[in-house]
Amino acid sequence: VEVFNYGRTREGLIPLWAGEGDTPTPQIIYDAATRSLADGETFYTYQLGIPPLREALAGYFEGLYGRPFTADEFYVTCGGMHAIQLAMQLTVSHGDEVVLLSPAWPNFAGSAIIQGASLKYVALDHGDTGWTLDLDRLFDACGPKTKVLVINSPANPSGWTASAAELRAILEFARERGLWIIADEIYGRFYYDGDSEQAQAPSFQTLRETHDRILFAQTFSKNWAMTGWRLGWLQGPAALGQIVENHIQYNTSGVAPFMQRAGIAAIEDASDFAQSQIDRAAAGREIVCQTLDKFANVRFKRPAGAFYAFFSIDGHDDSMATAFRLVDEANIGLAPGVAFGPGAEAFYRICYLRSPEGLSEAMQRLGTWLEQQNA
Ligand SMILES: Cc1ncc(COP(=O)(O)O)c(C=O)c1O
Repeated sequence: VEVFNYGRTREGLIPLWAGEGDTPTPQIIYDAATRSLADGETFYTYQLGIPPLREALAGYFEGLYGRPFTADEFYVTCGGMHAIQLAMQLTVSHGDEVVLLSPAWPNFAGSAIIQGASLKYVALDHGDTGWTLDLDRLFDACGPKTKVLVINSPANPSGWTASAAELRAILEFARERGLWIIADEIYGRFYYDGDSEQAQAPSFQTLRETHDRILFAQTFSKNWAMTGWRLGWLQGPAALGQIVENHIQYNTSGVAPFMQRAGIAAIEDASDFAQSQIDRAAAGREIVCQTLDKFANVRFKRPAGAFYAFFSIDGHDDSMATAFRLVDEANIGLAPGVAFGPGAEAFYRICYLRSPEGLSEAMQRLGTWLEQQNA
């Protein structure tokens, strides 16, 4: 936030720091919202989401994962963030511990702390093959107070993407210990593993049984360029319906019906747009990686998922100071790793869900700056 505030008004600055693309929401989606408003859908509505949206979500996931889903597993929320906060409200309180992998998107920690829970970070390793997880270290970190494992795969900011075998091992461990998993798979469709037949990242969705203690946080933000709409969903055991309803009642009392109509339009009428977002990220990834790969002092391996490059630069370990310098000296905005928890302090995050032209220009500026440092 500090770097953002420092650079946001710079003329010509290319911002790569935010976790969102540069494309506006497609018209077919906001037309559905304005139609709903014109039709007078402005009254209190279902706390858990309007039935046609919950049905649409179940159908969407059936298409993605090739297994049955039912509408009563889906609870509509004010964005992915609200889904994560609800998941924490449902699972932890004062004295409980939440185990997280780091680097991590900071809001997981924030939502656990609001609940009075304590945090334990398990650092991913960063080496020749990129970011990797030592499963034994994760399991050893779980003690008697641990109630929840947060698994964000593909991850923001590192792009680390768990294999199906890793997810299976984590699920089995959680079953044995009676732990909840908060699964954040919001970047699941931003997956670039060329060796795989799968269109999306490995997921708990294909491994779980209906009774498993998994709460999935999800969002319309990224696939449909709807970050400002604040529309998402929590997915969890249908048996939790009444308690989720109570929580939503006291948190937000539900999501505006016209926004939910937009969500239905996104799923039913804007699948081409979602695919274009994924293609845009894949093209952006190439542009960014080609520049980063050229520099021997840049530590970076292409991760399989999400839409971020997260890398370090030898000799530039103070990511905050260097991010300020990059604003002044290269007119580009990168997110400093220091925002992403232990082990991330010397890293930089670039979001590449952006126009190829803007990204090429930004990477040229970064390349020139890196050459100047090496001269
Ligand atoms: C890993 C992760 N989860 C959840 C979210 C929240 O998304 P939303 O905009 O729907 O609140 C983000 C946003 O950047 C994210 O990176």
